[in-house]
Amino acid sequence: MTPASPKLAAVLSPNREGIEKAAQALRAGELVAMPTETVYGLAGAGLEASALSKIFAAKERPTFDPLILHVSWPTPKDSASGVTDPLTELERRDLIHLEGWSDHSREKAQKLLLEFWPGPLTLVLPKHPRVPDLATSGLPQVALRMPRHPVARALIEAAGMPLAAPSANRFGRISPTRAEHVQSELGERIGWILDGGPSEVGVESTVIRMGAQGEAQLLRPGGIAAADIERVLGHPLLAPPSMPVAGPSGSPGAQLAPGLLESHYAPRKPFFLLPSPLTALPENLSLLPPFQPLFQQIREHGARVGFLSSSPEGNAHSSLFSLRFGRDAVAAETLSPAGDAQTAAQRLFSLLRWLDESTATVLVAEPWTREIHSGLGHAIQDRLKRASARNQITL
Ligand code: TXA
Ligand code: MG
Repeated sequence: MTPASPKLAAVLSPNREGIEKAAQALRAGELVAMPTETVYGLAGAGLEASALSKIFAAKERPTFDPLILHVSWPTPKDSASGVTDPLTELERRDLIHLEGWSDHSREKAQKLLLEFWPGPLTLVLPKHPRVPDLATSGLPQVALRMPRHPVARALIEAAGMPLAAPSANRFGRISPTRAEHVQSELGERIGWILDGGPSEVGVESTVIRMGAQGEAQLLRPGGIAAADIERVLGHPLLAPPSMPVAGPSGSPGAQLAPGLLESHYAPRKPFFLLPSPLTALPENLSLLPPFQPLFQQIREHGARVGFLSSSPEGNAHSSLFSLRFGRDAVAAETLSPAGDAQTAAQRLFSLLRWLDESTATVLVAEPWTREIHSGLGHAIQDRLKRASARNQITL
């Protein structure tokens, strides 16, 4: 007898009925995958420890990796009567507690919120005691974001509470940018997926920590370019802390941004990140010591290579690929046919997933080299590096 196939999540349409059903489930303490403009999130009641535990369990996420609370209310961008003082709104809702903050520091946080909410900015601020420790992994600060996706906003408002929502993937795996991705990651473990179409941005929010002295630190590059944030602040951001490879090893970086492990967003197959685009690599690759682990994998896995190109003429590159690797790729795609970072970000996770599901047994990617310093390219290259954490080739 074959075992019955496991029950998958019900997919809800993003209409009033679907949103109300999802909101009801959330109010009852259940989990719902929701669309956002960055990636799909696995949402649960943000102030209920029991719902938070379910999120960690469904994702198999270690509890040292804190969650983002998602909020929504009408903003001045939505209507003339929108909330003009989002910082006070967060205080009024007992989510943050800014003890000892000068007017100057408050103003800076306020400026960022007014400029970038709703949107892919997550701000880490001192938490109100009402926020459960499980949401923040015991840290004194809480991460907050108002997404821009209309379905996410409608859901948060219908649920009537902040929603904790990490990306809706199993821990360490590729983030989902479509409802089908969530179904294959978590469909057997959750009841509902609210389908809001493909995510428009494609990489997660930019995470910024702000302190009482007005200091602002980039914790995770993401959907909003650091340069745009710096322009609004009027000064540079502090650099991200350096990250542990696995687990909260007690490094200062681990304590500041516990979830930002070096290995993340990873395909199941061995995934190698090249040190430069193919055009800039020497011809005799297989003879170079840094490439030995890659060529060894290629030999061991029967030479079925999948290739993710960063170059606009990615297909033309396949002949270059054959030259450098001595074989054709069995699956090859380029991140952005037009070469722009926006399209590349949008396509990144679904192409990684596609390669992971292809007949390739080893994956190779070119690095992303455009808009890299403080633009969206920074987030793309950051994700490629973390996805290949144990297999980065450096010359
Ligand atoms: O775009 C996004 O941010 C998506 C969508 C669903 O909103 N969410 C997302 O959540 O990427 P997640 O859980 O995959 O990543 C959240 C990261 C954590 O891993 C951690 O690095 C940082 O945000 N974070 C959360 N709370 C924090 C805190 N209290 N202090 C420092 N970093 C925090
Ligand atoms: Mg994630």
